[in-house]
Order: sequence, then C-alpha cells, then structure tokens
Amino acid sequence: MQSAVDPSATNAQPLPGPPGLPIVGSIPDLVRKGRFAFILESWRRYGDIFSIPLIRLPVVDQSPWLSHVLAREHAPKELIVTCHPEAADQILRRRSDNYPKGRGYDAVRVLMGDGLVTATGESWRRERRLLQPAFRRPAIRDFLPTMERCTADMLATWERRYASGHAFDVYGEMMDLARRIIGLTMFGTDLGPSSSESAQAITVALEGMGRRMEGTVALPLSIPTPANRRFQRAIDLLNQIVFDIIGRARDGRLDSDEPNILQAMLAARDEESGAPMSDRQIRDEVITLYIAGHETTALTLTWSLDYLARYPEVRERVEAEIAATVRDSEAPTLEELDRMTYTRMVIDEVLRLRPPAWALAREAVAEDELLGRRIPAGAVVMFNIYAIHRHPEFWEGDPEAFDPDRFLPAKVEARHRGAHIPFIVGPRACIGKIFSIYETLLALARLLARYRFEPVDPAPIPFTAVATLRPSGPVMMRIRPR
Ligand code: HEM
Repeated sequence: MQSAVDPSATNAQPLPGPPGLPIVGSIPDLVRKGRFAFILESWRRYGDIFSIPLIRLPVVDQSPWLSHVLAREHAPKELIVTCHPEAADQILRRRSDNYPKGRGYDAVRVLMGDGLVTATGESWRRERRLLQPAFRRPAIRDFLPTMERCTADMLATWERRYASGHAFDVYGEMMDLARRIIGLTMFGTDLGPSSSESAQAITVALEGMGRRMEGTVALPLSIPTPANRRFQRAIDLLNQIVFDIIGRARDGRLDSDEPNILQAMLAARDEESGAPMSDRQIRDEVITLYIAGHETTALTLTWSLDYLARYPEVRERVEAEIAATVRDSEAPTLEELDRMTYTRMVIDEVLRLRPPAWALAREAVAEDELLGRRIPAGAVVMFNIYAIHRHPEFWEGDPEAFDPDRFLPAKVEARHRGAHIPFIVGPRACIGKIFSIYETLLALARLLARYRFEPVDPAPIPFTAVATLRPSGPVMMRIRPR
C-alpha cells in the first residue's frame, strides 16, 4: 500500500498522550473513569491529537508482524484521538478514501449486519444509491402527513393524561413518537409504544451493542455469558419481528398503503445480475434504519425541549416564530417549516452541545499526517464530536453556554466546516439529516404551540455517553397548556 505521506520527508512529531501502565496501557483508566471522561481529560492535558495506549508490550512495539496480527484480532495497540475540526474534515472529507470504517464497527455489525451504516466499498455505494431517493425533499414532503398524524396522536394522549399537571418522562414519549414515525414512513408498519416487544428488544439490543463498543475486548457472542445470552435473545426477537414485516410487505399486508423504502427494496434488482435483494440484506437495512433513524431524532427533541424549558427568552422567540409561520389547521408544509429559521438555529445549537453521535472512529489504510503528527497505517483514529463542538478556538465566549445565535448565517459562513458535525460530513454523512430536521421542526411546532414545558428537577439532566449520548434516566417534565 502506498503511503499518503512519507514521514521521513515531513516534520511529523510523535503523538503525545497518557503514558499508560506496562502491558495494559491505559485500559484500567478507560474502564475506571469511562471512555467519555478519560478522553476529555486527556484532551485537556495533551491537546488536539493524542494517543491512548491499549497494549504496552515491548515485544509488540518491536514487531510489526505481531502488531499487525494483534490489530487484526481487534486489539489495536493504541487509540488515536483527535478533537480538532481540521483533522475531522481531513478524515471525513479530504482524505476519506484513506479512512474507511474499520474494526471499530465490529460491535455495530453484530446487530446491524451489513446495512448502510456498516457496509463498505461497492456494496455501500449500491445501497446508498438505492436508499437515497427516499431521503430527498420530494419524499420528505410525502412523509409530512404521517409525521403530523403521529404527533397529533401523541398530543391527544397527553391531553388526557398529562395536561392536568402530572409529571411524565418526555424522553420516553419522544422515543415512542420517533419510533412510530420511522416504522410508518420507512416500513409501513406501526411499531407500537415502548411497552411493545419490538421496543423492548431494541432497548436490550442497543444496550448490548453499547457494552461491546465500550468494552476494550468483546467476548464472542457464542460465549454464553448472561449479558451475551440476553443480547442474543434480543437479536433473535428483532429478527423475528423484521422477517415478519418483510413477509407482510411481500403479501401487501402492511399497516400503511403509502409507498415506503421496504417496498422499494423488495422491488430493487441488481443492475448486472438482475437478482433481487436477499431477505438477509433487507433485514440488515431495516434494522439499520430503525436504529439509526429513531433514537437520534428522539434525543434531539428531548434535549431541545429541555433547553427551551430552561431558556425562556429563546422559547419566546421560537413560540413567536411558530405562530408567524405554521398554520394550526393543516399539516405543515415543507415551505412553512423552512421559514422556522430561528428554531432551526436552536436545533443546531442543541446538536452542538448534545450531539447524539458523540464520537466515531475510522481506520487509516495508509500512513498519513494529521495536525502535523504521524498516523501509522492500520491505526484506529477517533474524532471526538463532543469535544470538537466545544473547541475554544472555534466557539466564541463560553463554549458551554447555550446560544442559538452562534448559528446566524454570517457566523456559520465564517466558521470552519469541520467545527459543527452532528451528522458528520463527506461521503458517509448521515442520509437521514433532512428527514430528522423536518421531523424535529414539525414536532416542536406542534408541541410548543400547545404547551409550556417545565423540568421537574432544576438540576441539569445527567447523561451517559456509550453508543449515543443520552440522558441517564427518564427526563421528567410537566406541561402547562398555553
Ligand atoms: C438528529 C438525528 C440524527 C443524527 C444526529 C444522525 C447522525 C448520524 C451520523 C453522525 C452518522 C455517521 C455515522 C458513522 O459514521 O458511523 C449517520 C449516518 C447515518 N444515518 Fe443518521 N443521524 C440522525 C438521523 C437519522 C435518521 C432519521 C435516519 C434514517 C431515517 C438516519 C440514518 C442514517 C444512516 C442510514 C447512516 C449511514 C449513512 C452512510 O454511511 O451512507 N439518521 N447519522
């Protein structure tokens, strides 16, 4: 493999980073402090790019062959972390060919198989071409009535249960809403409330996937630990549910008659062989869209309601904008939602401070240089979106302060394009970005026109960062009719 950079010809410096212990490197710190906290602490100490040692054995360091074998067995010697927009832009856009999704995605593959998030190379290109039309504006326009209906159903339930002042879990409600919307728009299927089998199976499966992502070494699923057995049972149940949905789509027995992605997948034929997609491929894509498409949007909505409840002056501007742009009588149009420019800035600021995907990793194919440091071939490189979104060189004032005006057009124009990347950038950027933005705008328009939200506990909501950055527990709020 040809090197992108010849290190002898550059001034590339070795990477700084925590020294780590002999043999186990920084693994004890990663376990004790948690990956999220340890990485942020290391950023403060070592700067915008650093290496966290995972295996500290002189025999490994001196043997490229042993390093290679270990790395292949999912045991990279080090984790390189960058918290700088320039490096993220290089990895994701400018040199994206050198940074495919690598072993870091093995834990995701256990659950999602070879769907769009995990696929690479030609099979990724084919799937992306197939799914892309369903995420363009005309398709989103067709989805708006379903988004509106699901939101209205939820509000009708709230009217009965919570309008009188009962505290309830907004996060759970937003998960239910997003799950119904994704099920109906993508697969013509009502996936039901949080008590449903599919919701519980997905919760257990996401936990299992998160644990595998967090763990430095994951035991193969075939080893029957209690956690592995629970994870496997959840995957089996999800498979059953998804194969049942595929069967119903084949027989024309879906819950909704609207055209959907599942039908497009069933009708798709390979350009060369004319072969249809196998049930396994369709299963991988359905689970991928289900997982990628609901929790992320539910989190965006939950955090938005939380911030708006805590910043009355921002909430008032959003309420005024909704009153001026969206009619109450009919399903909002794309054009009406496009006029919610301030609310859109609020969403951008929420996604800055609480990016659902807080960190992602790629694997360097050939040696490269990032921020003047040498990146060896085969290295696993994490870009930390949470840190990039509060990098003091790119975010003025107190980067922790909530301020939607950071997204005024002139400010966005002047800012580095890698500084705000909740959906990432480059060829592997989120396919569902505009779907989720319109879903969030529509739901906020309807919820805020009807109610004021008040957190039950004035303290900030604690969160955990495993696969996604999510509240550590229920987000209890009260609503008051306006
Ligand atoms: C606020 C909501 C969302 C956020 C923050 C978000 C974020 C992201 C991010 C960061 C990635 C890159 C993942 C990686 O590199 O591994 C991604 C990819 C993806 N997202 Fe989203 N997403 C959101 C909503 C959605 C929705 C609603 C859908 C589907 C309906 C979706 C489907 C996907 C898919 C299929 C990919 C893989 C794309 C590819 O590699 O070609 N996402 N998303």
